[in-house]
Amino acid sequence: MSSEILDQRLLALRERAHQAFRQAFQREPTLFVVAPGRVNLIGEHTDYNDGFVLPAAIDRHVVMAVAPREDDLVRLYAVDFDARSRFSLQDIQHDEAEQWSNYERGVAWALQEAGYTLRGMDAALTSDVPIGSGLSSSAAVEVATAYAFQVLGGLSLDGVKRALLCQKAENDFVGMRCGIMDQFIISLGKRDHALLIDCRSLEHRAVPIPPGCSLIICDTKKRRGLVDSEYNKRRQECELGAKILGVRALRDVTPEMFAKRQNELNEITRKRCRHVITENQRVLDAVRALEAGDLERFGELMNASHISLRDDYEVSCPELDAMVEAAWRQEGVLGARMTGAGFGGCTINLVLSEAAPAFERNVAREYKEATGLTPEIYVCRAEEGVHTLG
Ligand code: GLA
Repeated sequence: MSSEILDQRLLALRERAHQAFRQAFQREPTLFVVAPGRVNLIGEHTDYNDGFVLPAAIDRHVVMAVAPREDDLVRLYAVDFDARSRFSLQDIQHDEAEQWSNYERGVAWALQEAGYTLRGMDAALTSDVPIGSGLSSSAAVEVATAYAFQVLGGLSLDGVKRALLCQKAENDFVGMRCGIMDQFIISLGKRDHALLIDCRSLEHRAVPIPPGCSLIICDTKKRRGLVDSEYNKRRQECELGAKILGVRALRDVTPEMFAKRQNELNEITRKRCRHVITENQRVLDAVRALEAGDLERFGELMNASHISLRDDYEVSCPELDAMVEAAWRQEGVLGARMTGAGFGGCTINLVLSEAAPAFERNVAREYKEATGLTPEIYVCRAEEGVHTLG
């Protein structure tokens, strides 16, 4: 997508947030915060095993119009749900009726737990990151909220700390045991780059996305079911594997060590571990391939990742498989895989740019024939992480 069109989309979102803010709070916002969604190129279900991931921030955003308050109230207006919620910074509870607001509440809670002093604020938010499609709309809300508090309160908080506190909000306040990937890339993404993240040391390196290829997201429109319970189950299975193999996390198991000791694991644990251990290696190989300009190799690794997620980690579903298989049949496709936690949501495809228009048409048709669902398919651009908009 050209940056002009991107700017138009963003400007439209900003305008929507602005109008809604005025209507909801009868005053003017002082700040607009923009946080992108994300797509993961490779390295799935490795982050909570202290492993490696390679996500990019994308040109779908949450926009939050905000203004500070003189008291300790936080008043929220979710434009897309036409819903409101408010809380006092002195006493942050869950809102059972307005569940969406628990992300903002959790972030305020986590920042205060870490010792930061927050200012009250009014905020109106809107988004074009599809909800429930695995592109991290909720992490985008978290990071936008943290950034708003940060700017309004003049908090000294770097991108890594911000990501960690947003993860804490999700883990300990919302109750989802996610890893660090989503909040990290949304905090620190870089335009036209993916980010290699070592999820143990939190060292990270921007890897340019080479010209000549397009990153295409295919949304199956199958909303993710089962994801929370199955996600937590996978985490437990990995923890069990690490315990039996006597390591701190599966990150510490090399493919050679796994080959020697895999018989100590029951079948399920063995499959889960095999995915994580091979996937970590694939991320490192993929970065090497990308940096060497070897897109074909990169694509092969994406394909292998999908097969491993489907067969060993068992987090794909018929719709994701149908979308990936349709992609694999097309000319000019370098690689295709499910992305995100799984059980529905999106695939990510690396396609030669000249083949992208035919890819979009053919995959949409073949996927619809196979599943009866109408997908949404779009070329995405790797974008900046959270920032303010003038
Ligand atoms: C979700 C989680 C991430 C990561 C992915 C799977 O997006 O929020 O932390 O574990 O699933 O790779």
